[in-house]
Amino acid sequence: MDHFLYRGGVLHAEDVAVPEIAAAVGTPFYVYSTATLTRHFRLFSEALAPLPHLVCFAIKSLSNVAVLKVLGDLGAGMDVVSIGEYLRARAAGVPGERIVFSGVGKTRDEIRMALEGGIRQFNVESEPEMRAISGIASALGKTAPITLRVNPDVDARTHAKIATGKSENKFGIPIARAREVYAEAARLPGLKVVGIDVHIGSQLTELAPFEAAFAKVAELTQTLRADGHTIERLDLGGGLGIPYTRSNEAPPLPVEYGAMIQRTLGHLGCEIEIEPGRLISGNSGILVSEVIYVKNGEGRDFLILDAAMNDLVRPAMYEAHHDIIPVIEGAPGDPVQNFDVVGPVCETGDTFAKGRSLPLLAEGDLVAFRSAGAYGAVMASEYNTRPLVPEVLVNGHQFAVIRERPTFDEILARDKLPEWL
Ligand code: LLP
Repeated sequence: MDHFLYRGGVLHAEDVAVPEIAAAVGTPFYVYSTATLTRHFRLFSEALAPLPHLVCFAIKSLSNVAVLKVLGDLGAGMDVVSIGEYLRARAAGVPGERIVFSGVGKTRDEIRMALEGGIRQFNVESEPEMRAISGIASALGKTAPITLRVNPDVDARTHAKIATGKSENKFGIPIARAREVYAEAARLPGLKVVGIDVHIGSQLTELAPFEAAFAKVAELTQTLRADGHTIERLDLGGGLGIPYTRSNEAPPLPVEYGAMIQRTLGHLGCEIEIEPGRLISGNSGILVSEVIYVKNGEGRDFLILDAAMNDLVRPAMYEAHHDIIPVIEGAPGDPVQNFDVVGPVCETGDTFAKGRSLPLLAEGDLVAFRSAGAYGAVMASEYNTRPLVPEVLVNGHQFAVIRERPTFDEILARDKLPEWL
């Protein structure tokens, strides 16, 4: 469910006509819906309502400060993986006690800055990192709350590039070694063990892999408690998938996910943290682009857009599917045509879709990529010296630019000539 619907044949973002935004900011641009962000956050908090919990939005999926403020004002916590993300969360007004710090390679500077600024917990991914946090916290005269991220060796059954819970992946501590690592954590100064962390992957479309991982976490909780550790918090990561097409089978809903969490872990009396990204932000955003040319190739027709792989890399990187729809809806029965939808970047991989059936589009027409809110703008680059596209936030009848398109002067000013040139 999202708030990008046709009204009178024109695609709207909530109550704003998409062509109106295009006229104001130019294409391409991302536009996000406050109502969808709010709704999806609430689905999670309602699903976990019977348990003490904190929904920590995975900032990596969509990190604009205005979006973070929408969610932070609703009471969301934040899951960050860099000090840059930490600073974004703070800039959005989220206090340190609602920020968890994940990631396999936190640098010593990042650890120090988070400790000084205030942090809910570090999700520790390795023994060297645990020792580094202990040393830095001790030197600062602070105590760092930590969980250890365990790798449960569960197959998430998702795209290989975004599966993280198998033993061959770089993430976490093998669950079989958890007892000895927790024992070391208890001995180290400057650390306070508060719980266990697990995250097995992204875009999961079934509950079974989560349940298998959480069952292992439940067992480990009891083992660690018997060993004398305080396990009061379980961070279950993110990963619940979204439907990218109308046709494919819908992934489980947050309410089903929440019920499974209660069934698997509810008896332990722990506070539950989850780190959803995509399910909150994915269907909250679209990427709007204009057709530059329609090119009739040999045996195929190309729709050449002004958006490219640098603006939305998911199709090139993960063979991901995004529905592409015209901003002005065709009438039922209008002719359609198969297009290869491509961007202007000089790589064959700059292809969004092949043989996609679309109305007869022409130069100047607008199209929208659906479900582009998550891992869209945040993964954009300036490849081919294409400026990062603006981001727009809609709220009812209002819209605002929440990140401007940089000017070419700004882009060029970042390059510096050495004195000898
Ligand atoms: N927590 C941790 C520790 C993570 O590594 C991730 C995602 C999340 C939470 C949020 O997962 P989500 O709920 O969004 O599935 N760029 C890829 C996805 C990468 C996901 C990385 N980690 C894509 O475009 O599909």
